Amino acid sequence: MKSIDLDRLKATVEGAIENLIVLDTIDSTHLMARRILEQVDEDGAPLRPTLVVATSQTGGQGRGANTWESPTGGLYVNWLSGNLSTALVPMLPMIAATAAHAALTGVGIDEVRIKWPNDLLIGDKKVAGLLIHCRHTEQVLATIGFGVNIACTPRIAGAPPIHPPTCILDALPDVEATESACRVLMNFVAQLESGLEDPQSSVRSWRKNLLHREGDTIAVRVASGDLIRGLFEGVTEEGHVRISTEDGERTLSSGDIIED
Ligand code: BTN
Repeated sequence: MKSIDLDRLKATVEGAIENLIVLDTIDSTHLMARRILEQVDEDGAPLRPTLVVATSQTGGQGRGANTWESPTGGLYVNWLSGNLSTALVPMLPMIAATAAHAALTGVGIDEVRIKWPNDLLIGDKKVAGLLIHCRHTEQVLATIGFGVNIACTPRIAGAPPIHPPTCILDALPDVEATESACRVLMNFVAQLESGLEDPQSSVRSWRKNLLHREGDTIAVRVASGDLIRGLFEGVTEEGHVRISTEDGERTLSSGDIIED
């Protein structure tokens, strides 16, 4: 297993963000980010732009009830901000996915697609995922979690997933793991910042890079467990998926596209 050199990662990112926390291993950078946001909220103190980075997690969190397998050889990141406008919050999944897409294409991978809402695929395999959490109290506190398989292809327990995992080094075997992690991380932070400055262009890019095209047959598993089948009709301004079913058009704000 190729591992990522923590000191080189730290040296590369220092200077790109005010507050940087780099750890060898942690339960979950997402959980740590949530703990920081709770504390900031309690103290009522401003939150400096912060990045929590780890090279392995013992309790990685995925979307919904999923776990995120986080062995050595992956990059596990949470970006935290305390000064976002409320209007940006619904756009965060799209802005984050665009930043992740640009971070991956920026290291030379072709064929990266965004599977609605914000999974990152190379071909039909999943290379990265995003997990977003916001707290709205006096200030909008937000954290964006980004997990990327750099040099590891995690084993997924249970039934084979419809998009089996892959990693960056599968696509770019001649690239060094640490070099790739440094570039992905720097690209991600820079692209996130520019996406927040110009959200409309980020959302346009998100639409353009979506995996599904109008007319594709899809099935979406929604929170109730129901499966909604139909034709993909595109996405709304808010990034919700439009699907035409036998019973008419439905708009879904969340769910997993599990068949196509
Ligand atoms: C998904 O596709 O289900 C979302 C995966 C998000 C994983 C990242 S890794 C960094 C951060 N820490 C976590 O525990 N989860 C997110």
